[in-house]
Amino acid sequence: MKIEKFKESIKNYIGLEPFLFWKGRVALYAILKAIGIKEGDEIILPAFTCVVVPNPIIYLGAKPVYVDIDSKTFNIDVNKIEEKITDKTKAILAQNTFGLSSDLDKIKELAKKYNLWVIEDCAHGFGGTYKGQKNGTVADAAFYSTQWNKPFSTGLGGIAVTKNKEIAQKLKELEEKTIKPSKKEELMLKTLLNIREKIVSSNTYWFALKTYRFLSEKNIIVGSSQGYELEKPTMPPNFLKGFSETQAKKGIEYFEKINGEYKIDLIIKHRKKIANCYKEILSDLGFEPPYEPDYAEHTFLKFPLLVKNREKFFYLAEKEKIELGDWFLSPIHPIQRNFELWSYKYGKNPIGEFASRHIVNLPTHEKIDENYVDKIYNFLKKNKDEIIGCRVPDNLKEG
Ligand SMILES: Cc1ncc(COP(=O)(O)O)c(C=O)c1O
Repeated sequence: MKIEKFKESIKNYIGLEPFLFWKGRVALYAILKAIGIKEGDEIILPAFTCVVVPNPIIYLGAKPVYVDIDSKTFNIDVNKIEEKITDKTKAILAQNTFGLSSDLDKIKELAKKYNLWVIEDCAHGFGGTYKGQKNGTVADAAFYSTQWNKPFSTGLGGIAVTKNKEIAQKLKELEEKTIKPSKKEELMLKTLLNIREKIVSSNTYWFALKTYRFLSEKNIIVGSSQGYELEKPTMPPNFLKGFSETQAKKGIEYFEKINGEYKIDLIIKHRKKIANCYKEILSDLGFEPPYEPDYAEHTFLKFPLLVKNREKFFYLAEKEKIELGDWFLSPIHPIQRNFELWSYKYGKNPIGEFASRHIVNLPTHEKIDENYVDKIYNFLKKNKDEIIGCRVPDNLKEG
């Protein structure tokens, strides 16, 4: 059984027993259910996330309460959490945006004071560390995503972990209750994994991205986000879906050793090396690099760059076949309207909102080599006047 082998690999790597789900958002739902989240509860989360994070909170009848982010880390601003805590607050979600852990000691201190759970959202942060401890092992529970653009990819996938025995027992029960992905879903995932491996390159990136998103939104293929998840936060049928053999088979590959090192660790090393090249490029062009606090190891799943006019920047990048990411296009990515359906009040979180209007991400994945970095260097140099930098400016003037 590939699933058992994959679980064993994760357990060896993280040091905690993993519980597997169809997607990261399902793993989050399972954790929220396991800690007893119910109607009327409030969950604190950063105002710079993906809409599939507030979704499971709302599916359980609870309310997402957004806190603005820190201008340098793109993670929740730990100094703004306390003012949002009420007697209904039950948990704080601490995200690892772009591969950088939130400042967990400060969050845990608040959680202790108010008797709250802390859940690490490690969708971007598998393999990174906080004060020497692996992301996902520091708080009460955590989830990882193994979707396409994540630290390692099984196409789609979600992993929940916890140090707490009672939560673990409940996660196990929920994992047992999951419905099996259909043969059709597995086959589609297998096909998409093949297409990605064999066909998608930086040259075909924009076409592949647009096609994939279009087909997902129309609910034609098993996508990262189906159209109905972006319309309103209503729990879709069969949401509590399990992990498949196809996903496990792919996942195992990342825990094979190459010259004594796990493949996943080599990938993380590669990402950090490419990020170092970008840091040099930016400093060469006169910009400060992304902030890297002492407390965490940044694994640079994505390299953040703020630009004055994002539409124009995307247009220029696509014309020159430069691969750019778009996390996050909105404080609850990729939502652009009807924010109130997710209890989000636009205008309340100026830093997250500025970031989500101006950010693009430079790629660091395995297919990016030094020649491609040179191409990006030339592109950035040519369009230097379009760049704001890697941190949200203190003075939030729209440029
Ligand atoms: C910060 C963050 N958390 C959670 C998720 C959910 O992961 P998944 O797509 O596996 O459900 C994402 C998604 O893409 C994300 O960006």
